[in-house]
Amino acid sequence: MANNLHFKRHRRLRSTNEMRALVRENHLYKDDLIYPLFIIEGEKTKNEVPSMPGVYQISLDYLEDEMNELQSLGVKAVILFGVPNEKDSTGTGAFHEHGIVQEAIREIKSKTPEMLVIADTCLCEFTSHGHCGVIHDGDVANDESLKLLADTAVSQAKAGADIIAPSNMMDGFVIAIRSALDEAGFTNIPIMSYAVKYASAFYGPFRDAADSTPQFGDRKTYQMDPANRLEALREAESDMDEGADFLIVKPALSYLDIVRDVKNNFNAPVVAYNVSGEYSMVKAAAINGWVNEKELVMEKLTSMKRAGADLIITYYAKDVAKWLDE
Ligand code: PBG
Repeated sequence: MANNLHFKRHRRLRSTNEMRALVRENHLYKDDLIYPLFIIEGEKTKNEVPSMPGVYQISLDYLEDEMNELQSLGVKAVILFGVPNEKDSTGTGAFHEHGIVQEAIREIKSKTPEMLVIADTCLCEFTSHGHCGVIHDGDVANDESLKLLADTAVSQAKAGADIIAPSNMMDGFVIAIRSALDEAGFTNIPIMSYAVKYASAFYGPFRDAADSTPQFGDRKTYQMDPANRLEALREAESDMDEGADFLIVKPALSYLDIVRDVKNNFNAPVVAYNVSGEYSMVKAAAINGWVNEKELVMEKLTSMKRAGADLIITYYAKDVAKWLDE
């Protein structure tokens, strides 16, 4: 008889919805969400990204509607990526006063000033070769790239960006950008550093969306080896020392152990980037009717919170905001 057996009845705390809610340890909130946007040059243009159904490249004239939609859903932060017409070897479009990202920031801040605008700071969308810095002798030249990245961050801050999010993975980018922002008077603009960014196959669809595929080689001399865990702590440590205010771990799903490590070791808000490939895999399965999209996405994002993420950058932000209201 059960009476004589001694075991713990865990199911007591799972008996009803109400009971489960009472003991739930982690929650996903609308305030956790950051929605990525791809801004393309031109007018009245809205192109669905083939490998990311439901995600669009949009021109500036769509931004006001987009912001109104996000605000009505309760999404309060966006991260911007630019898709320029012209590219060159040093990515000058990234730091041009009237570059596509700078214009998008101005447009958003003029129409919906409460929207938090995070500017991704990288050169890859603006360089003809698609790398995140300038090229010397066939490799990305670290120190020369820092100056251009700092110029990019300052021009984004001048346009009105609330947060600078450098994703280039050059060594020293945080201190280079922090000093340049401070010198230009932007001492109060935080840096959300892509501190721990792996050289990942999960970025494939993004490179379609942002037109930023490297034209030769790969990003393995600057992005991290997916096999490494301790290296993530070294990266996060340098960025904290250099003045990062937030730490991003990217991708998220296959790297939840790293999210936890970063959360346990550093006292800064941790951001998980639920990247393009993670979106596309779920979307493809959902379109085929193979998975329950809502349940799957909510489970994944809640797992990121459980792993220690404070914030999540996700292409599913709008859907999640709707689902949270249901
Ligand atoms: C730019 C950048 C990339 C992503 C964010 N910023 C692409 C890359 O490093 O190749 C990827 C985001 C995603 O896959 O959703 N460096």
